[in-house]
Amino acid sequence: MSDFDVIKGFAFDMDGVLADTARFHTIAWRKIADEVGTTWTKELEEGLKGIDRMGSLALIIAAGGHENEYDQTAREALAEKKNTNYRELISKLTPADILPGMQNFLDELKLSVASASKNAPFIIERLGLDDYFKAVVDPASVSAGKPDPAIFSAAAAVLNLKPEQVIGLEDSAAGIKSINGAGEISVGIGDATVLAEADVNFDQTADVTLNAIKEALDKK
Ligand code: BG6
Ligand code: MG
Repeated sequence: MSDFDVIKGFAFDMDGVLADTARFHTIAWRKIADEVGTTWTKELEEGLKGIDRMGSLALIIAAGGHENEYDQTAREALAEKKNTNYRELISKLTPADILPGMQNFLDELKLSVASASKNAPFIIERLGLDDYFKAVVDPASVSAGKPDPAIFSAAAAVLNLKPEQVIGLEDSAAGIKSINGAGEISVGIGDATVLAEADVNFDQTADVTLNAIKEALDKK
């Protein structure tokens, strides 16, 4: 029996896997980086993926060495400003913003969402995907954000499945760590060097199908 044969459910990351929203997070965070005086780099951008709102802000502030210039109140104001800008950008999302191949893949499965985003229910609704998912885990309900395993553990629990019966899909290194820590099979989507800890990897969402995952796992 292969690892694939025990699989009963899938837990999806959202930003960068289901929804083409990573570019909007980048636009909105970049404005904040400019405001605090942190130089934007590709490494900073990649490292923010999967990290929750306040954690992302802390990384941006620290990347420029500005830790002592922003207290909690100032940080909350910056996070609020970023989210207001981001909400404006995502307010026009439509099903056309579902990443390539994901609609067909969803038709094959039993599913939950494990996103660090507090905007996840809104985005899933805008994409017209709410009927697919048994649950969207509320990131505020778990003890710690990605890379901690808590959110992907909760994503298996809401499906009434054991971790080994679940495959998690992610486009971030923090998220792959979360899936692996939860004891689930991890599927990375994106740069295989960034997602080196994933059990199997695909370059792009358009390549992800049930059969492609089974073949990749069977080859391992
Ligand atoms: C993750 C994104 O899915 O959600 C991060 O990859 C983002 O970039 C995080 O910071 C939190 O999102 P939100 O919408 O709650 O600010
Ligand atoms: Mg993501």
